[in-house]
Amino acid sequence: MDPDVARMALEGLLAPRKTLPPSLFYDEEGCRLFYRITDLPEYYLTRTERVLLAEIGPAIAAAVGPGATLVEYGASHEEKACLLMAFPGAFARYIPVDVAAPELSRLRERMAVSHQAVNVEPVVADFMRPIVLAGLPRDGRVLGFFPGSTIGNLEPSEAISFLVRARETLGPRARFLLGADLRKSPSVLIPAYDDAEGVTAAFNRNLLVRLNREAAANFDLMAFRHEARWNDAESRIEMHLVSLRDQKIILAGVTVHFAEGESIHTENSYKHAPDALLTLARDAGWALERQWTDPAGRFGHFLFGLQ
Ligand code: AVJ
Repeated sequence: MDPDVARMALEGLLAPRKTLPPSLFYDEEGCRLFYRITDLPEYYLTRTERVLLAEIGPAIAAAVGPGATLVEYGASHEEKACLLMAFPGAFARYIPVDVAAPELSRLRERMAVSHQAVNVEPVVADFMRPIVLAGLPRDGRVLGFFPGSTIGNLEPSEAISFLVRARETLGPRARFLLGADLRKSPSVLIPAYDDAEGVTAAFNRNLLVRLNREAAANFDLMAFRHEARWNDAESRIEMHLVSLRDQKIILAGVTVHFAEGESIHTENSYKHAPDALLTLARDAGWALERQWTDPAGRFGHFLFGLQ
């Protein structure tokens, strides 16, 4: 049993409105399921962002100038950064920041083969805490990069404090490129989080599989249903696991009661409108320089400089 996992789970499950932290999604099976999600026909996010990044790469390279440093937050894979680094000479240095040390060392090994001219300096850190990076240039040739709509997992107040810390880490004259899924009709959003094949449902339920294994729990997987809900007031997709019956489970020796229809809220994916995102960034001290969206206006990339 992993006492940290058990403690995190109980903290959420004993609250009046039950929750589980989304960070628990990403065990080995969870990572595998997430990569399958990114290939689903309904999950337009990854595909749309990839096309957009390939298109805007030259403009980004021109803005930050030759020999720049790219600092990517939450970088377990270099794929998106490579779309920006496809322009020879634009970036001389790549600093992927992530909590997963093994992923970062694999990333470094791949980059040593594919991008010999780029200095890769992984940093193992939680981007929700202050990060100090040594030796960043102060001449404007620094780009912070936060793709994948990961910002949507943060509460708006957390997103602002993240953007403030990034400004402090990256230093004077730095720029920041933010990739985010945008507010749109629930008829597009709901299928993206509740696909026909049931991969997202399996991703959500995998939390319970993990707790059974790592937190000595006895969840009956068939007694919980995956649900994606659009919360219009908060402008977010919520994922829930809904109890199909009145039941008790035991986790690390502690009994947790579920009423029929009661849910565990497992994730928020905020879908901010462009204006709302610009306001968050402005509150954090960043000014918009340019923005791009795909033709359907589903996904946006926002280039910020300091105010
Ligand atoms: C990796 C957090 C961007 O919110 O769309 C995918 C995770 N959850 N399907 C997202 C996720 C359900 C994803 N992020």
